[in-house]
Order: sequence, then C-alpha cells, then structure tokens
Amino acid sequence: MRTPILAANWKMYKTLGEAEAFAGELLAGLGDVSGREVVLCAPYTALDRLRGALAGSPVALAAQDVFYEEQGAYTGAISPLMLTDVGCAYTIIGHSERRQYFGDTDEIVNRKVHAALKHGLKVILAIGESKPQRDAGQAGAVVVAQVRAALAGVSGAQMAELVLAYEPIWAIGTGDTATPADAQQMHATIRATLAELYGQATADAVRIQYGGSVKPDNVDELMAQADIDGALVGGASLKPESFLRIVHFQA
Ligand code: PGA
Repeated sequence: MRTPILAANWKMYKTLGEAEAFAGELLAGLGDVSGREVVLCAPYTALDRLRGALAGSPVALAAQDVFYEEQGAYTGAISPLMLTDVGCAYTIIGHSERRQYFGDTDEIVNRKVHAALKHGLKVILAIGESKPQRDAGQAGAVVVAQVRAALAGVSGAQMAELVLAYEPIWAIGTGDTATPADAQQMHATIRATLAELYGQATADAVRIQYGGSVKPDNVDELMAQADIDGALVGGASLKPESFLRIVHFQA
C-alpha cells in the first residue's frame, strides 16, 4: 500500500507572518491524518520559522529546489546540507518553473537528485510535458525521457526516498486539469518505466503525485485513480481551508 502524499508548493508566496499564520490554521484543522503524509514546500526564507511552527506535528517541511554542491563559492545557492540543517525532510527538484526560468536541464536535475539523496534529503521529482509536446503526441515519450534522465545512476534502494510528481505544464496554474483518465494513463506509463528500471516491486512502492490545477473540487476524482498517489498543489495550497480540503480528500 502506498501512503498518499499531499504537498503544498507555495512557490514565491508568503512572508514570515503569513507562513506562520498558515501553519497555525493548518495544524488546527488537520485532525487525524493517519494514513496520509502532508508536506509543506515553502520559500527558503520561511523554513526556519516553519520548523518551529510545525514542531511535533505530522507535517513535513520541504524546500522547492536545491543546488547540487554541499558548499562553496556559489552565490545565491542553497545546499542539501543547509536544507537538512534547517529541518527539511524533502525538496522538490525539477519543477517546470525551475526548468523554464532558471535553466535546470535534465542533467542538472540528475545532479541535484544525487546531491539531495546523498545528504538524506528526500526528493519530490517533478516531470511533465508542454502543450505543444502533448499536441504533437509526444507527451509519453517526453515524460519517460525526463524520468530516465533524472534517475540516471539512482539505485533501487534509493527509490524509497523518492516521490515523483507528474505535472503537465499546460495544467499548472491554468485551471486546466488533465482529466483523471489522462493523468492515470501517464502515471501508469511512468510506473511501467520504473518497473523497467528497477523491477515491479520497487515500481509498485514508489508514489507518483499529480500536479496541475488540483483543487478541492477535483482532488477526490484524481485520487480515486489507481496510480495517482498524491497531489502537488500550487495555487490551491495558499489558503489553509483549501489545502485542508485537499489533504482530507475522499477517494
Ligand atoms: P498549480 O501548481 O496547482 O497552481 O497548478 C502546481 C505546481 O506547479 O506544483
């Protein structure tokens, strides 16, 4: 059984005060979340404050990106060591916004994955095709190539520390969600790729989140799909009541 994993990706939103207020409301409304994992991917500046606010709670702290070196002359960069030091359990790697605006290639994504795992930082690895790629019938090939490139050199044992997040770029922030059936089909393709790389048992144990306009009113249907094991949520994670409804999905 794969434990569903619901992650908020705040992107470049929330001051310290806003982050702390959200954490308070989230914990107040969380109730019994046994059997599901809740993750908050916050801006770097809020991580230390959130560590305090979430202490003793079941909510895991996460970053949205990481650099691949441990330390050195890399102005502006944050290392895996720094993220574990501040209490992060996870980091997102390979988000399409990092690939688009910050030049993260498949090779860089792969280096970041190795660096994070080496430091005991779990990874939410994001992959997904663009609209032109989907329209050209290449969505499956693009996503499979991203998975293979990002995981080059990653062992089967390390896959226990990795979550995948399928996020079709055209569905991010647009209100245009993939249909549950389309998402399920891609998730099954991703799992088949993992089975080729690591064998069926490992593939069956890896959680694959869907991301891209996940909302309170579509999460239940998405989570009902056999190979959708969680959600990576942007816009709808910014308000506690909305994210709480997503955490409390009913499949
Ligand atoms: P969205 O973003 O929920 O606002 O579409 C998802 C993401 O980019 O992780």
